[in-house]
Amino acid sequence: MRKPNIAILGATGVVGREITKIVDELGIEFNEIKFLSSAKSAGTKLEFQGKTYTVEEAKPESFDGVNIVLASAGGSTSQKFAPEIVKRGGVLIDNSSAFRMEKDVPLVIAYVNDEDLKKHKGIISNPNCSTSQLMLVLKPLNDKFKIKRLIVSTYQAVSGAGLAAIKELKADTEANLKGEKFENICFKKPISFNVIPQIDVFCENGYTKEEMKVVNETKKILHLDADTPISCTAARVPVFNGHSEAVDIEFEQSVQPDEVRKILESSFGVKVIDNPENFDYPTTRDASGVDPVFVGRIRKNLAFKNGISLWCVADNLRIGAALNTVRICQKIIEMDLF
Ligand SMILES: NC(=O)c1ccc[n+]([C@@H]2O[C@H](COP(=O)([O-])OP(=O)(O)OC[C@H]3O[C@@H](n4cnc5c(N)ncnc54)[C@H](OP(=O)(O)O)[C@@H]3O)[C@@H](O)[C@H]2O)c1
Repeated sequence: MRKPNIAILGATGVVGREITKIVDELGIEFNEIKFLSSAKSAGTKLEFQGKTYTVEEAKPESFDGVNIVLASAGGSTSQKFAPEIVKRGGVLIDNSSAFRMEKDVPLVIAYVNDEDLKKHKGIISNPNCSTSQLMLVLKPLNDKFKIKRLIVSTYQAVSGAGLAAIKELKADTEANLKGEKFENICFKKPISFNVIPQIDVFCENGYTKEEMKVVNETKKILHLDADTPISCTAARVPVFNGHSEAVDIEFEQSVQPDEVRKILESSFGVKVIDNPENFDYPTTRDASGVDPVFVGRIRKNLAFKNGISLWCVADNLRIGAALNTVRICQKIIEMDLF
């Protein structure tokens, strides 16, 4: 297997730091690695595999000789550097939403639609965090019973909005407990002791952009018909890390909760915790810091024919961003696609 030269773009951010950790955890083999940020953090020292690296400011020439770029530096940064990376023969694995819905850009969850990687023309997109955790759960169920309709309600942690949002939850909570005034910057409403029914901006149809990402990205990844009815409500909750989702699925074929449990118990990347009599169901705290997507509360849905409801939690920084990015990198190396 060929070993690539790798660059981590956005290495000083919440997702970038997690990507760096996971490159080590998954034992990704490379010739050289470099860490890039904006001018603000350039010069920062990073420890990686026993060596000290200096973070460099990302410039077009930073990508000379780089084969694979793992990017989590925001949409405008990816848009700026993508042509420079591709022009130099590199492959960009991008965490932003900049290219996700472009026809020529594969949108991939590793172990769900790896075959789509073969169609890449230099850019591969990593799905939105709330879509990502769902795919490992829905893929085996769609293969067996075929999804007819899907309704998702999300309860999303603040880490999904970056380092500044994590700091805001902490500071707002402390101020609130002391009875002090606090001015929100990252969120439109106070995030402490609150639930905010808005993530990202509103679209013309009344849904938010975050909600429409779940709708559109799910169809693209699972190759569902364009008119498959999918609806999502996304809320931000005062949790530091780990997204939770309540999922209602109607299938074409008849399905029993036990069949779903059995399929998911043997599915890659999924762990079932489902024994409500003993209070065994997954919570966000179970998921934070680990790899599996946890599923519980699997039951017959009372509103749909052939319907199933379930509860799904995962670490949004890992499967929702960094882990999948590094898994894609691993697949690209294994499939010799760089
Ligand atoms: N957090 C999540 O759960 C999640 C999930 C999926 C996708 N994403 C996406 O991943 C991206 C990063 O998110 P994050 O939460 O890690 O944000 P973050 O903590 O704010 O980190 C942003 C990173 O990007 C770098 N950066 C910013 N502008 C840059 C520029 N012009 N050139 C080079 N580097 C630049 C920053 O460098 P400095 O330190 O120099 O500012 C920092 O390393 C976003 O596109 C986000 O939508 C995040």
